[in-house]
Amino acid sequence: MEKEIKINFEVIPSYQELNDIEKTLFDKAKSIREQAYATYSNFWVGCAILLENGEIITGNNQENAAYPSGLCAERTTIFWASANYPDIKIKKLFVIGAPKDAITSVAIPPCGGCRQAILEYEAKQKDAIEIYFASLDGEIMKSKSIRDLLPFSFDSSFL
Ligand code: THU
Repeated sequence: MEKEIKINFEVIPSYQELNDIEKTLFDKAKSIREQAYATYSNFWVGCAILLENGEIITGNNQENAAYPSGLCAERTTIFWASANYPDIKIKKLFVIGAPKDAITSVAIPPCGGCRQAILEYEAKQKDAIEIYFASLDGEIMKSKSIRDLLPFSFDSSFL
Protein backbone atom coordinates (compact mmCIF):
# COMPACT_ATOMS: atom_id res chain seq x y z
CA MET A 1 0.00 0.00 0.00
CA GLU A 2 1.47 3.33 -1.02
CA LYS A 3 1.20 6.19 1.44
CA GLU A 4 2.04 9.86 1.36
CA ILE A 5 3.53 12.26 3.88
CA LYS A 6 2.58 15.92 3.71
CA ILE A 7 4.96 18.55 5.03
CA ASN A 8 4.09 22.14 5.75
CA PHE A 9 6.26 25.12 5.01
CA GLU A 10 5.81 28.76 4.14
CA VAL A 11 7.62 30.75 1.47
CA ILE A 12 8.28 34.34 2.46
CA PRO A 13 9.22 35.99 -0.83
CA SER A 14 11.20 38.93 0.51
CA TYR A 15 12.99 40.38 3.53
CA GLN A 16 10.43 43.19 3.69
CA GLU A 17 7.74 40.72 4.65
CA LEU A 18 9.55 39.58 7.79
CA ASN A 19 8.54 41.06 11.13
CA ASP A 20 11.08 42.99 13.21
CA ILE A 21 12.46 40.06 15.18
CA GLU A 22 12.69 37.95 12.01
CA LYS A 23 14.57 40.77 10.28
CA THR A 24 17.00 40.91 13.18
CA LEU A 25 17.58 37.16 12.97
CA PHE A 26 18.12 37.41 9.21
CA ASP A 27 20.62 40.25 9.65
CA LYS A 28 22.51 38.46 12.41
CA ALA A 29 22.67 35.13 10.55
CA LYS A 30 23.92 36.96 7.48
CA SER A 31 26.60 38.92 9.29
CA ILE A 32 27.92 36.02 11.43
CA ARG A 33 28.17 34.04 8.19
CA GLU A 34 30.93 36.43 7.18
CA GLN A 35 33.05 35.11 10.04
CA ALA A 36 32.67 31.43 9.19
CA TYR A 37 35.81 29.32 9.29
CA ALA A 38 35.16 27.44 6.06
CA THR A 39 38.57 27.42 4.48
CA TYR A 40 38.16 24.00 2.82
CA SER A 41 34.69 24.18 1.30
CA ASN A 42 34.44 27.97 0.99
CA PHE A 43 30.77 27.48 1.75
CA TRP A 44 29.92 29.97 4.47
CA VAL A 45 26.97 29.42 6.74
CA GLY A 46 25.58 31.62 9.51
CA CYS A 47 22.96 30.81 12.11
CA ALA A 48 20.97 32.90 14.58
CA ILE A 49 18.85 31.43 17.35
CA LEU A 50 16.17 33.29 19.30
CA LEU A 51 15.70 32.16 22.90
CA GLU A 52 12.51 32.55 24.89
CA ASN A 53 14.19 35.20 27.08
CA GLY A 54 14.74 37.34 23.98
CA GLU A 55 18.46 36.68 23.67
CA ILE A 56 19.90 35.91 20.26
CA ILE A 57 22.77 33.44 19.91
CA THR A 58 24.79 33.34 16.70
CA GLY A 59 27.26 30.92 15.18
CA ASN A 60 28.79 29.74 11.95
CA ASN A 61 30.39 26.67 10.42
CA GLN A 62 33.82 25.64 11.70
CA GLU A 63 35.89 23.42 9.44
CA ASN A 64 38.96 21.29 10.09
CA ALA A 65 41.82 19.81 8.05
CA ALA A 66 40.46 16.48 9.25
CA TYR A 67 37.19 17.18 7.44
CA PRO A 68 34.74 15.24 9.64
CA SER A 69 36.00 17.09 12.70
CA GLY A 70 34.39 20.31 11.48
CA LEU A 71 30.86 21.30 12.40
CA CYS A 72 27.90 22.98 10.71
CA ALA A 73 26.68 26.43 11.73
CA GLU A 74 23.38 25.14 13.11
CA ARG A 75 25.01 22.64 15.46
CA THR A 76 27.78 25.04 16.52
CA THR A 77 25.07 27.50 17.51
CA ILE A 78 22.48 25.20 19.06
CA PHE A 79 25.06 23.30 21.12
CA TRP A 80 26.37 26.55 22.53
CA ALA A 81 22.83 27.73 23.28
CA SER A 82 22.00 24.52 25.13
CA ALA A 83 25.33 24.50 26.98
CA ASN A 84 24.87 28.04 28.25
CA TYR A 85 21.08 28.26 28.59
CA PRO A 86 20.05 24.67 29.34
CA ASP A 87 16.64 25.63 30.74
CA ILE A 88 15.64 28.33 28.30
CA LYS A 89 13.55 27.36 25.33
CA ILE A 90 14.67 27.93 21.76
CA LYS A 91 11.95 29.65 19.76
CA LYS A 92 13.45 30.21 16.32
CA LEU A 93 16.49 29.13 14.33
CA PHE A 94 17.49 31.08 11.22
CA VAL A 95 20.15 29.86 8.78
CA ILE A 96 21.77 31.45 5.74
CA GLY A 97 24.39 29.63 3.70
CA ALA A 98 26.10 30.34 0.39
CA PRO A 99 29.50 30.07 -1.27
CA LYS A 100 31.96 32.63 0.14
CA ASP A 101 31.83 35.23 -2.62
CA ALA A 102 28.24 34.73 -3.67
CA ILE A 103 26.08 37.80 -4.11
CA THR A 104 22.88 35.92 -4.79
CA SER A 105 22.03 32.42 -3.63
CA VAL A 106 19.22 30.00 -2.95
CA ALA A 107 17.83 29.17 0.46
CA ILE A 108 19.79 26.21 1.82
CA PRO A 109 18.04 23.97 4.32
CA PRO A 110 19.79 22.49 7.37
CA CYS A 111 21.60 19.24 6.53
CA GLY A 112 20.26 15.93 7.81
CA GLY A 113 22.67 15.79 10.77
CA CYS A 114 21.63 19.27 11.90
CA ARG A 115 17.93 18.41 11.56
CA GLN A 116 18.52 15.45 13.87
CA ALA A 117 20.36 17.66 16.38
CA ILE A 118 17.62 20.31 16.28
CA LEU A 119 14.99 17.60 16.81
CA GLU A 120 16.73 16.57 20.03
CA TYR A 121 16.24 20.06 21.47
CA GLU A 122 12.61 20.23 20.36
CA ALA A 123 12.07 16.96 22.22
CA LYS A 124 14.03 18.19 25.26
CA GLN A 125 12.07 21.43 25.56
CA LYS A 126 8.74 19.85 24.55
CA ASP A 127 8.07 22.75 22.26
CA ALA A 128 8.55 23.34 18.56
CA ILE A 129 11.41 25.38 17.13
CA GLU A 130 10.52 27.48 14.09
CA ILE A 131 13.09 26.97 11.34
CA TYR A 132 13.90 29.57 8.74
CA PHE A 133 16.37 29.18 5.91
CA ALA A 134 17.09 32.00 3.56
CA SER A 135 19.00 33.07 0.50
CA LEU A 136 21.40 36.01 0.77
CA ASP A 137 18.98 38.23 -1.09
CA GLY A 138 16.05 37.39 1.10
CA GLU A 139 13.90 34.54 -0.12
CA ILE A 140 12.94 32.77 3.06
CA MET A 141 11.47 29.35 3.76
CA LYS A 142 9.85 28.78 7.12
CA SER A 143 8.74 25.63 8.94
CA LYS A 144 6.81 25.64 12.20
CA SER A 145 8.80 22.67 13.50
CA ILE A 146 11.90 20.69 12.56
CA ARG A 147 9.56 17.69 12.33
CA ASP A 148 8.28 19.11 9.04
CA LEU A 149 11.81 18.85 7.65
CA LEU A 150 12.51 15.44 9.14
CA PRO A 151 9.75 12.97 8.39
CA PHE A 152 10.23 9.47 9.82
CA SER A 153 12.48 10.90 12.48
CA PHE A 154 14.29 8.85 15.09
CA ASP A 155 13.99 10.03 18.66
CA SER A 156 14.27 8.73 22.21
CA SER A 157 10.78 7.22 22.09
CA PHE A 158 12.33 4.28 20.20
CA LEU A 159 15.00 3.58 22.80
N1 THU B 1 27.09 23.40 6.41
C1 THU B 1 26.47 24.03 7.44
O1 THU B 1 27.08 24.78 8.19
N2 THU B 1 25.15 23.79 7.60
C2 THU B 1 24.40 22.99 6.80
O2 THU B 1 23.24 22.74 7.10
C3 THU B 1 24.98 22.45 5.57
C4 THU B 1 26.45 22.49 5.49
C5 THU B 1 28.54 23.61 6.25
C6 THU B 1 29.36 22.40 6.58
C7 THU B 1 30.62 22.69 5.79
O3 THU B 1 31.45 23.53 6.57
C8 THU B 1 30.14 23.48 4.59
O4 THU B 1 28.84 23.95 4.94
C9 THU B 1 30.06 22.68 3.31
O5 THU B 1 29.32 21.52 3.49
